[in-house]
Amino acid sequence: MADLDSTEDPRDFHAGVPQRADGFFLKGGAHQDWGLKNRLARIFDPASGRTVMLAFDHGYFQGPTTGLERIDLSIVPLIPWADTLMLTRGILRSVIPPATTKAIVLRASGGPSVLKELSDERLAVAVEDAVRLNAAALAVQVFVGGEHETQSIENMTRLVDLGTRYGVPTLAVTAVGKNMVRDARYFRLATRICAELGAHYVKTYYVEEGFETVTSCCPVPIVIAGGRKLPELDALRMAANAIQRGAAGVDMGRNIFQSEAPAAMIQAVRAVVHGNETPEHAFDLYRELGRVQPTHG
Ligand code: R5P
Repeated sequence: MADLDSTEDPRDFHAGVPQRADGFFLKGGAHQDWGLKNRLARIFDPASGRTVMLAFDHGYFQGPTTGLERIDLSIVPLIPWADTLMLTRGILRSVIPPATTKAIVLRASGGPSVLKELSDERLAVAVEDAVRLNAAALAVQVFVGGEHETQSIENMTRLVDLGTRYGVPTLAVTAVGKNMVRDARYFRLATRICAELGAHYVKTYYVEEGFETVTSCCPVPIVIAGGRKLPELDALRMAANAIQRGAAGVDMGRNIFQSEAPAAMIQAVRAVVHGNETPEHAFDLYRELGRVQPTHG
């Protein structure tokens, strides 16, 4: 039982000190509920406001793509340097150690394989299962301009409704069809539609021309996908440019796990994202940590 004596003479109510009313560090998040903000703060480091998401969910439509044949061997050793793991629930339950404390962003849409029309996705996880898995966010593909545009947007709005019920944010992933133009105009359209319809943050691709216009008119944070494998220095330059032009982080897969030295590469990416390091210095770090000779740049 608590000591009653100690409650008789409270010493100091700090009556003259107003309680702090802190804002929230993340763009567009100030008016969300506590649990949702807390999950976002596990994804985005409150110190930098940014995130390094390690993406290895590719198998949900591609199968065992290069670098992801054995996730236990290629990805699990990289976990210490990731802020967030983006993956499917199948890999989470079968391969990822439950003792990991990293934020989990769970792939929540799927259906077609690479052999079919990719925009024909459905929701592929129940929100209760995502909560059971302690997911920090749910990720859904949105195909603006794609064959099943409306269906994919409805997937997203349903997920926003379901996730918000439990305080779980939704990451909208803008997916670009093979024959569509990847330019700032398209990404302004796609990211803004996602945000307007409730996504809490949006993943898109980096474009050289006008990327800052994409980030500036999207009212929630944007992270960039890494995309196809580039030479390491080029990938670091892309990440640095995206950050300088308003991105709140990267959701990077192939440019890390297909690197010659994945552990060195993710640390170099962290230096750019969280440390504002120049790509050239980060590349030096990559070479030093990976003990590999430069082949480009
Ligand atoms: C698509 O397979 C997923 O959304 C990936 O998580 C995303 O494309 C990021 O991976 P990468 O950097 O390899 O493009």
